[in-house]
Amino acid sequence: MNPGQSTATLSKSAPAAGARPCQVVVLISGSGSNLQAIIDHRKAGGYQLSGVISNRADAFGLQRASSAGIATRVLDHKAFTSREAFDAQLMQEIDAFRPDLVVLAGFMRILSNGFVQHYAGRLFNIHPSLLPAYKGTHTHQRVLDAGEHRHGASVHFVTPELDGGPVIRQAVIDVRADDNKDTLAQRVAIEEHKIYPEVITWFAHGRLQIDDEGVLLDGQRLPECGVQSGCHQ
Ligand code: GAR
Repeated sequence: MNPGQSTATLSKSAPAAGARPCQVVVLISGSGSNLQAIIDHRKAGGYQLSGVISNRADAFGLQRASSAGIATRVLDHKAFTSREAFDAQLMQEIDAFRPDLVVLAGFMRILSNGFVQHYAGRLFNIHPSLLPAYKGTHTHQRVLDAGEHRHGASVHFVTPELDGGPVIRQAVIDVRADDNKDTLAQRVAIEEHKIYPEVITWFAHGRLQIDDEGVLLDGQRLPECGVQSGCHQ
């Protein structure tokens, strides 16, 4: 912590010692392979999944959640006339689970400012690029088209700027000469499945904080790339 900075200005992630384990709600739209990794790690990570919510009824991740005995909800965005109306109902569904942390895992909806503010400091996203590079969609193809030698995935706190919040953790992979978007997607996914449960575990153990300057892990300020081997900003 910086001198003079009071703990009151920090968003502290930890449930107090002896309190209930960190309760996580995961939002998905599709396959849910990250959700599966988060489910598989929950015991070792010291967190619990209280619910999984999808905006699509056909998301395979809903079956993964049900198989693991986790409550599921479907909230179809097409049934709402505005983004704000959908987000307001989504907040109600999430808050009914009383989560400590909300995790976006392939949730393909842009969220309103009101939603993001409501979960400030306890809302994570994972994105398939080394942020701040390649925000948005089709990241693997864009990385190939640009002739990049490095690619990867980022876990970040969500702020109103799309894919723009402070980075907590990045995994880097080399781009190979014979890579195509599918081989890149496969190798990035393998890394995502490691770093997302890891970051949730940090949060569950009260090791992560966010303030106006960025992210702290165990009280140490992280560089802009978060925890990433080879990054020494
Ligand atoms: C993941 O690769 C995740 O990084 C990406 O969607 C995929 C979901 O896969 N998220 C974004 O692009 C968000 N901007 P999954 O459903 O198998 O976890």
